[in-house]
This record gives sequence, structure tokens and C-alpha cells, in this order.
Amino acid sequence: MLLCYTAVMEIPLEKREQVNKYIVDKYTDVPEKVLEFERRAKSLPIPPHHIKPQFGKLLQVLVQAKGAKSILEIGTMWGYSTWWLYQSLAVDGKIVTLEKELKHYNLAKDFFSEMDMSRVDLRHCDALEELKKFQPEEFDFVFIDADKREYPGFFQLSKSLLKSGGMLVVDNVIFSSGWKGNTVADAVYDGRIKKAQELNSMLAESDDFIAVPIAIESGVMIATKK
Ligand SMILES: C[S@@+](CC[C@H](N)C(=O)[O-])C[C@H]1O[C@@H](n2cnc3c(N)ncnc32)[C@H](O)[C@@H]1O
Repeated sequence: MLLCYTAVMEIPLEKREQVNKYIVDKYTDVPEKVLEFERRAKSLPIPPHHIKPQFGKLLQVLVQAKGAKSILEIGTMWGYSTWWLYQSLAVDGKIVTLEKELKHYNLAKDFFSEMDMSRVDLRHCDALEELKKFQPEEFDFVFIDADKREYPGFFQLSKSLLKSGGMLVVDNVIFSSGWKGNTVADAVYDGRIKKAQELNSMLAESDDFIAVPIAIESGVMIATKK
């Protein structure tokens, strides 16, 4: 009976677009200055991949729920997701965000300056190296959204940086736009999805985390450290 009810309640694939539009229109109020920067970034030769506004709002809600004061972000691009995280950052909080590509880093620097986001510590680095420099339990929120092939490494290096009770969010854990497989199990895309699935397995089997991916966008992992 319950299964039947659940099935009826699911949003059919062909309706997803209008449902997303409804959510974006009603719940995400992005200031013109941010939209303007987004248009500027789109006109540049950089990949257009950043999170959708409804996912940004989810980040904002989660940061607020955690009362997060120290946030670590892996994969800044030009700073769109950082802006969402910043919306609920405690007044005495900070966000450390790591970006490897110099042109992305420079754009993010301009964006944070234009938006007066003074509590952001933007670093031009390879996260795989930079993550070794932090103290254990330095952060109460970690958001991973960088090269999927490095997901297992990002997780291994950042899990000890998260406080007990802290939250981990990871983007693109189920598929990506280049997915050529028919099933979740046979996904093939340059090894990226397989690496994301490795991270999924680590979290599923971990005694230290309670985790579940949710089926929004290309799969968003939400986990808390025990
Ligand atoms: C999907 S984009 C991030 C989008 C951003 N989180 C948003 O939604 O606004 C991924 C970014 O991670 C960066 N990146 C990839 N591997 C990295 C690494 N090892 N260390 C730091 N940054 C990395 C890429 O250069 C790219 O800018």
C-alpha cells in the first residue's frame, strides 16, 4: 500500500522541468548582481558547470541547520556555490574554498570582491595537496564539487577535517552529463562516475558517517559524521 502511494507521488520525468521551474521561481531569489556575473562568466571560455539555484538553496538550508561556522569547499569555479553557502554562514564564520585553475580562481576573486564576501578565504591550489595542511576537525561543513576522478582522494583527505556532527555534501555522485551507460552499475564516462561510485561505497560502508544520496540534479550525497 505504502509502495503504491510512493509510486503515485513520484514526479514523472517529463514533468521535472516545470517542477524545477516552479521551485526556482518560488524559492530562489538570486540578486541581479549575481545573475549579471553569471552572464559574464558564461560569455567566457570556461566550462558552464555550476550548481543549479535549487541546489544552492538546499546548501543554504543545510548550512543554516548546522549553524556552520567553518566551511570547506573543494571546487570553486567562479564562486556561485560559495555565494549560496555564504548566505547562511555565521557572522563570525569563514569559508575556505579551493580552486586549481588560475582563470577560475581570478574570476572568483573578482566575484567575491564585487559581492563583499570578506569571510571567504579563496586559495589557488590543488586540493589534493592543500587538504593536507588543515587541522583535524577544523570544519563543520564540507562541500565537494571538483574533479570526479579525485573524489575518493578528496574524501579520504577531508573526512578527518570534519568535526563530529559535521556535514558532508558531494555533487554529481550518481551520473554526469557524459553518462553513456544504461544502468547505474555500467556507467562509463572517462572513469569519472566509477570514481564517484567508489566514494559512494566508502560512505555506504563507513562506520563514521550516516549518508544517503538524493536524486536531484546528477545525484547529491548528504552525509553527517557521527
Ligand atoms: C564543477 S566546477 C565547481 C562549480 C562550483 N562548485 C559551483 O557550483 O559554483 C569544478 C571546479 O573544480 C576545480 N577543480 C578540479 N579539480 C581540482 C583540484 N584537484 N583542486 C582544486 N580545484 C579543482 C575545477 O577547476 C573547477 O573550477
